[in-house]
Amino acid sequence: MCGIVGYVGQRDASSVLIRGLRLLEYRGYDSAGVAVLTNGDFALRRSVGKLQNLEDLLAESPATGHSGIGHTRWATHGRPSEANAHPHRAGRVVLIHNGIIENFLALRAELRANGRDFSSETDTEIIAHLIDGYLSDGDDLAAATRRAIARLEGSFAIVVMSVDEPGRLVAAKSATPIVIGLGDGENFVASDIPALLDYTRDMLFLEDGEMAEIDSSGVRVSEFDGTVVERDPRRITWDPVTAQKGGYKHFMLKEIHEQPQAIIDTMRGRLLLEDGDIFLDDFDLGKEWWKDVERMDLIACGTAWHACLVGKFFIEKFARIPCNVDYGSEFRYREPILDERGLLVVVSQSGETADTLAAVEEARRKGVRSAAICNVVDSSITRRADAVLYTHAGPEISVASTKAFVTQLTALLLMALFLGRRRGTLSAEECRELIEAMVHLPSPLREALALAPSIETMARRYVKAENFLYVGRGLNYPIALEGALKLKELSYIHAEGYPAGELKHGPIALISETMPVVVLLPKNGSFAKTLSNMKEVESRGGQIIVVTDVEDDEIDQVARDVIRVPSVHPMLMPILLSLPLQLLSYYVAEHRGTDVDQPRNLAKSVTVE
Ligand code: F6R
Repeated sequence: MCGIVGYVGQRDASSVLIRGLRLLEYRGYDSAGVAVLTNGDFALRRSVGKLQNLEDLLAESPATGHSGIGHTRWATHGRPSEANAHPHRAGRVVLIHNGIIENFLALRAELRANGRDFSSETDTEIIAHLIDGYLSDGDDLAAATRRAIARLEGSFAIVVMSVDEPGRLVAAKSATPIVIGLGDGENFVASDIPALLDYTRDMLFLEDGEMAEIDSSGVRVSEFDGTVVERDPRRITWDPVTAQKGGYKHFMLKEIHEQPQAIIDTMRGRLLLEDGDIFLDDFDLGKEWWKDVERMDLIACGTAWHACLVGKFFIEKFARIPCNVDYGSEFRYREPILDERGLLVVVSQSGETADTLAAVEEARRKGVRSAAICNVVDSSITRRADAVLYTHAGPEISVASTKAFVTQLTALLLMALFLGRRRGTLSAEECRELIEAMVHLPSPLREALALAPSIETMARRYVKAENFLYVGRGLNYPIALEGALKLKELSYIHAEGYPAGELKHGPIALISETMPVVVLLPKNGSFAKTLSNMKEVESRGGQIIVVTDVEDDEIDQVARDVIRVPSVHPMLMPILLSLPLQLLSYYVAEHRGTDVDQPRNLAKSVTVE
């Protein structure tokens, strides 16, 4: 959830940058910085913590000039620190970046071999070094940036400046947003529209694979290969709220589409690919706390409880610690057995859910360690728990949870891998394989989101349904529960989730031609068994909707609708499968005309018991 702002014109650049960063503050950050061109060189000011710290620094030590770039950062590669804060400087270049460079280890090794020194642990700094290197070959800033981005794998939005070309910004975009604000004798660049609405409503949007050269008098857009792009600006008439919805009809749809970025933000700074390990320095339960954990209780409500059910799979598989999962509202009243060898983990988006909070308090009363996986910084639960692992999903405004859920899954996986490595139940090799799969996950997630138009069409066929079943197996069974919950709360259609193998123990009696059954059918060890469950449904006339990564004619013959998703590591399938189910619920509800962002009778944060 990093924020980007850039400016070139006649105003005081520092003030424009700070104002823009303030308007992006809701996205969260751990450090911030600006670089302003002052008397032929860059004044670089960076600080950890609140934006106010950066403002205080600028008050003490002003950066005066009319062009510059600014950034708020959530740590990715490397901890939150001043050295890791953006902008990064390499030689003649300063640069800010959102996203993750997946091949940064190889590039860093290459640059080191060429005598380059690094002053941070970030993947970003290597981009600045690449560009500076190409400038030394005689390229101008745009050409050097073009050559550098041709070397990058991963997602990025960058803005770069060079001392040699004052008053010029070069921006490039691949999978992470960049918007350019057009002014009169001044121009702006940002990661998000709200950052610029105080200055201009005329905006140019970069597409993936495009670059922009920006100075105070104009903007030149081109593709990475240099082909010039002619694009008319759009006038943004959105009020501030619509601007925050990013132009989507609902916050929910925006948040569904933010999920690839949200899980990147959860993983930031926590993956040690080289070592095959997980780094959780913000999660501290005391010295070597993991050694004597003999059991874990995972407690939450609603969607977060579904995340815990998947978390149990992760923790038991990788850390071999027995796990109990319970609803907050049940746990507190059943005299739970807790002792000092246990660890209680609560999972909550809001950090305010009364029943979940009560579980933490119960743990405190009994002298048991507690930890929270939470999204909202400094919420009640985070203040009560002994340690917190933040999900960094950014604000979730839609009442129905989407990006909070997939980031909870991601955080639980990180916790399981962390414990597995410390306790010796997971090898560095196995951990590295999973980390690699996690780093690559955003692309298949984007492919799954690209299915939205076909899911929208498909959803029309089910608007009149009165009941739905969702079935899955193993770690995808909780995703069936979550799919059913999403449909219920958004569309008010009755829906149930079951383990696929349970169908014949009762629920199969419900199957008729009017019953849509969503079958989660990923390629894994239980594929054949779930396929035969699906045939049981078919032979009773049920309308089958399959979500699968398998190309198989048999599936197409049996199913009424097939949602075909990309394949990912089986442990990451619960995250991937969540997306089409969210879209299905969203579009069924949309077609039924319900209030998607604020379904009836529901509240975003349930602070009553
Ligand atoms: C469903 C949903 C709820 C919440 C539940 C817990 O879409 O959002 O089921 O998951 O109320 O809320 P948090 O995570 O804030 O504790």
